[in-house]
Amino acid sequence: AAVGKGNYRHFMEKELHEHPAVLGDTLRQYLDPKTLEVRLPRLPFDPGRVPRLTISACGSAFLAGAVGRYWIEELARLPVDADVASELRYRNPPLQEGGAAILVSQSGETADTMAALRLLREGGQKVLSVVNVPESSMARESDGAVLTVAGPEIGVASTKAFTAQLAVMACLAIGFGRARRELTTLDEGRLTQALLEVPSHAAEILEKDAQIRELAAEVAKARDVLFLGRGSLTPIAFEGALKLKEISYIHAEGYAAGEMKHGPIALIDSNVPVIALCPSGPLFEKTASNLQEAAARGGRIMAFTDADGVGPLSRFAERVIELPKASAFAAPILYAIPVQLLAYHVAVLKGTDVDQPRNLAKSVTVE
Ligand code: G6P
Repeated sequence: AAVGKGNYRHFMEKELHEHPAVLGDTLRQYLDPKTLEVRLPRLPFDPGRVPRLTISACGSAFLAGAVGRYWIEELARLPVDADVASELRYRNPPLQEGGAAILVSQSGETADTMAALRLLREGGQKVLSVVNVPESSMARESDGAVLTVAGPEIGVASTKAFTAQLAVMACLAIGFGRARRELTTLDEGRLTQALLEVPSHAAEILEKDAQIRELAAEVAKARDVLFLGRGSLTPIAFEGALKLKEISYIHAEGYAAGEMKHGPIALIDSNVPVIALCPSGPLFEKTASNLQEAAARGGRIMAFTDADGVGPLSRFAERVIELPKASAFAAPILYAIPVQLLAYHVAVLKGTDVDQPRNLAKSVTVE
């Protein structure tokens, strides 16, 4: 059946508003809200024994995989290599015997990701794909598949499929942590609980639409924009920059906040908005001090944080948007939403073709 836009102006807007439902559906698939345990489908490898994991994908799906790397290394103490598929397929990586791989794709048809899948399988790796389309080529050719329950995504720029990929990666990380005896039942319950709160927090974030639209009016005037994050929020900073480039055609860069002093700080002046993803938590002080360095050079800091971060950031930031207070673990899923909303509103202000940006395709099935 054809999918309509309903009362929304664009598919992207409609899909943005599907976040709470899609995240709920995806998480319910892999978490038990009663026992607070992760329930993974049968995997093609034993995460308790696998010595090394390769994660690969393209575009936004790769960035979901990159967040997964932070989570899996942290919670499961499993070494992870993450590389975009177009690089992985030609760099002849030394694959470890008994190793496994996770490939991430909304369509399950991306040519480079398919090529990486075949290379990994030929190299003896057991491949699990995280896909949104159950009957896709990747789902069929992998040793196993975990589905994101995002429903059809029409807008070329990924929104709900991306956060659903993050939700699945988070569940896998918890499951791997348990299999490797790195997490206690108590840890698992705490992490699962944090994920179960994500759908309602996502709904609260969508209510910040007016504030994000005001921010978009500022960003729409810029020629260059810098997105900063730290730790597991770093790939979300990359995703913010990618989205803005894709649909508004404004040049944007995502950077690890701590790395800014080694280059991008040279660009900072009052013409370059700095979008900061800065939730309270273990990396807050470090990120805030990176932002302060940018502010001291005339940079205009526009920060996303939670109630605990508002006070300290307001001392030097031009704009602070308060998001719900969530656990540091769930933050990447939640902070993906405002950066998508921001890109959406900037694109609308710029009058671009939001759902069909120039030169881009929803699924790139040629190399
Ligand atoms: C294209 C789309 C991106 C997407 C990427 C990977 O470039 O424009 O939004 O992230 O392909 O697609 P996949 O279907 O493999 O997730």
